[in-house]
Amino acid sequence: MARQRLPMRAVAAQVLQAVSDGQSLAQALPTGLAQVAESERSQLQALCYGTCRWYHRLNAELKSRLHKPLKKGDRITVPLILVALFQIRHSRQADYAVVNETVEAGRSLGKPHLAGLINAILRAALREGEPEPANDADRLSHPEWMTEKLRHNWPERWQAILEGNNDQGPMTLRVNARQQSREDYLKALGEVGITAIATPFAEQGIQLERPCSVDQLPGFDIGAVSVQDEAAQLCTQLLDLHPGQRVLDACAAPGGKTCAILETAEDLQVVALDQSDERMVRVRENLDRLQVDAQLLTADAAQLEHWWDGQPFDRILLDVPCSASGVVRRHPDIKLLRREEDIPALADIQLNLLEQLWTTLKPGGRLVYATCSVFPQENHRIIQRFMKAHADAALTMPDLAWGLDTGAGRQLFPERGSHDGFFYACLTRIDHPSANQATSS
Ligand SMILES: C[S@@+](CC[C@H](N)C(=O)[O-])C[C@H]1O[C@@H](n2cnc3c(N)ncnc32)[C@H](O)[C@@H]1O
Repeated sequence: MARQRLPMRAVAAQVLQAVSDGQSLAQALPTGLAQVAESERSQLQALCYGTCRWYHRLNAELKSRLHKPLKKGDRITVPLILVALFQIRHSRQADYAVVNETVEAGRSLGKPHLAGLINAILRAALREGEPEPANDADRLSHPEWMTEKLRHNWPERWQAILEGNNDQGPMTLRVNARQQSREDYLKALGEVGITAIATPFAEQGIQLERPCSVDQLPGFDIGAVSVQDEAAQLCTQLLDLHPGQRVLDACAAPGGKTCAILETAEDLQVVALDQSDERMVRVRENLDRLQVDAQLLTADAAQLEHWWDGQPFDRILLDVPCSASGVVRRHPDIKLLRREEDIPALADIQLNLLEQLWTTLKPGGRLVYATCSVFPQENHRIIQRFMKAHADAALTMPDLAWGLDTGAGRQLFPERGSHDGFFYACLTRIDHPSANQATSS
């Protein structure tokens, strides 16, 4: 007998339970999407993303309405009610339909004994309205540690960062300069009725007024454009690429920046390295779509003996693994997945990668250190620690119209209706360490 489909909101609860248990949305959502009708897929995705985005605030409300804790075996009821609260607080769905459907979804998940509880909590939520959040973390819907860390690190900006994380970032494209100019592509978009503007900082960037499916973008399948945030696109301007250079993209997968590098100058010898086999497949797919090529290597970048042939690089992009705290608006599950203790552990990995890869850079060569983090521990403090121990490293930031000068690299914050949070530092390896003078602008 064919198994009956679970209601979509029950599937959403299962996806969110998996995220609470440590899976990313990117891992958990495909299983959920496969369980619902095609017509429900975009709504399932919106419910999962939206509930993660508002998870901490909704959960604070749920806790205030639950008078005793649920039994361990009933914990699927928590995400189920959070999905309903998300709809009540943030969507136009008819309120009482949400209550009834949630009670039904609880039954389909084998929890008929909780129908009364679900019904009572949601009806009280409708009747009484949203309670006043008890603190800033609940109000801005972030974990407390993240809220306090940002307040401490950026006393003037923490609130704007957290508010920005609750927005949805715009859809931004990078025009493949090898195929056409940005102006020509803007015209091509206009011809198919897509409204867009040129980005202010990234030379090849175009920001769409409204997101759309990539199938609607002229020439997407033949590599005319790629989807990439404006902040991520800035790496090529910092690398100062010239034909003939040997370039290492050290943490390359899924290859967004590898492709941007290959589009910037002809005749580059690019080595794209990543330790993840699975993610390397994505690099190959992206290169193929753009009809460009690089040498792909799968290895731990810090273990030079496993991958380096001893030929130094003119340019290195080191886009290290990080907390991704600058891209929370695109990946709201980060709020649930990341822990405070991850940050010092990531900082150790980042500094070690920088130390190891420095030795593969040519004297006179440039290394661009990048993260999509807004925590100084992963950003300018790494550069400061590195500079202290390396007399042959000079900070050589060009004049830039974007970001905040930290004195050891440039910090971008997620901006409403604009780019993500990012950090960049340019380091040049000098021949004669005694001539080391840090120049930052
Ligand atoms: C921020 S992502 C890179 C994004 C990529 N540069 C892009 O623009 O598409 C970080 C990458 O570092 C890789 N990584 C983490 N530790 C690594 C290591 N020790 N050696 C090589 N790659 C590593 C991860 O697999 C992940 O793909």
